[in-house]
Amino acid sequence: MKNWFSQELKSLKEKNLYRRLRILEDPQGTHATFEGREFLLFCSNDYLGLSRHPRVIRAAQKALKTYGVGAGAARLISGTSKAHAALEKKLAQIKGKESALVFASGFLANLGILTAFAGEQDVIIMDKLCHASLVDGARLSKAELRVFPHKNYKKCEELLRGSQGARRRILVTETVFSMDGDLAGLKELVCLKKKYGALLVVDDAHGTGVLGAHGRGATEEGDLSKKIDIIMGTLSKALGGLGGFVAADKIMTDILVNFARPFIFATALPPVLCEAAREALCVVEEEPSLRKRLWDNIRQVHQELTQLGLSIGKPESAILPVMVGDEGEAVEVFEKLLAQGVFIPAVRYPTVPKGKARLRITVSAAHTRQDIARLTVAFAKVLKK
Ligand SMILES: Cc1ncc(COP(=O)(O)O)c(C=O)c1O
Repeated sequence: MKNWFSQELKSLKEKNLYRRLRILEDPQGTHATFEGREFLLFCSNDYLGLSRHPRVIRAAQKALKTYGVGAGAARLISGTSKAHAALEKKLAQIKGKESALVFASGFLANLGILTAFAGEQDVIIMDKLCHASLVDGARLSKAELRVFPHKNYKKCEELLRGSQGARRRILVTETVFSMDGDLAGLKELVCLKKKYGALLVVDDAHGTGVLGAHGRGATEEGDLSKKIDIIMGTLSKALGGLGGFVAADKIMTDILVNFARPFIFATALPPVLCEAAREALCVVEEEPSLRKRLWDNIRQVHQELTQLGLSIGKPESAILPVMVGDEGEAVEVFEKLLAQGVFIPAVRYPTVPKGKARLRITVSAAHTRQDIARLTVAFAKVLKK
């Protein structure tokens, strides 16, 4: 048996797909020590630096005294506190929806949405680059999963047209694609949803706190929040904590409370994290300078690396992937950057398709101009070698 497992791992190593955990010592947000050396990190999804914001920490400390560390039970048992209710009210308001429901993680929220709203008689139509949690949710739901090429809405329409016999058609996209950093065409998808009477689910994990005039996410502009049926997001990226949520009509969140197994059968998100997330949402609203700094940093990183000749897509979000292609080469670039004191993981299959390995840079408002200059110098040195 053991031999079989070591063969599996050996085969991963041969393909440059082996992964291992790295313990970061003294993490300081954008900096950490690793194996005794100090590193600059461009890999966290803490886009606004809120995980360490004094207001967020104070809110968490206060909640710890009131609620303790854990929730003690699932939401439907004794795991729902005032902290959950207050956070859900705030999320519903920010997302422009009647109701919101918090899950213990974003991954669980996606599993919950797709398994609760889709079943054997339904068809789920999904962008090819959707996150693993959406793919797994679709598989678990037993609905037929049909995938359209990335942002190819013509093909998406063909799939909608070809599935008219289904009980329900559920159209699924991310707003900001997590490994490419580009944006979905939400307006096109809203048109298709209307035309074919489909249910539109959008995952705004990487848009919440980053996009929109007030940081409310990708659905803030153009009344999109009203036109999209289900908006999912996480508390674990720009909001700096942990947890997932769904914002939708009350009838939809009622369905989730009654049918979403990852909601029903998992211990609730600790109230301390609810209070931290609620304060983080207030900071997003009240301190727009953080978002401005994030966007200044995104543009600066993009400009400096593009000037070095690196191919990075348009700066549409805080995710700026430097495409490499070959898995082995990506690991090599990662190691070379590490030698320069910069930590940017090489993202490989199965997170991205085979042969599309990349260095996924994520930018934060917490990065300084000196951090960005150090990143540029590190890349310049790697390119010269
Ligand atoms: C697009 C997307 N959806 C969902 C998730 C899962 O969210 P969480 O990390 O809160 O479980 C992620 C996280 O990697 C993500 O990138």
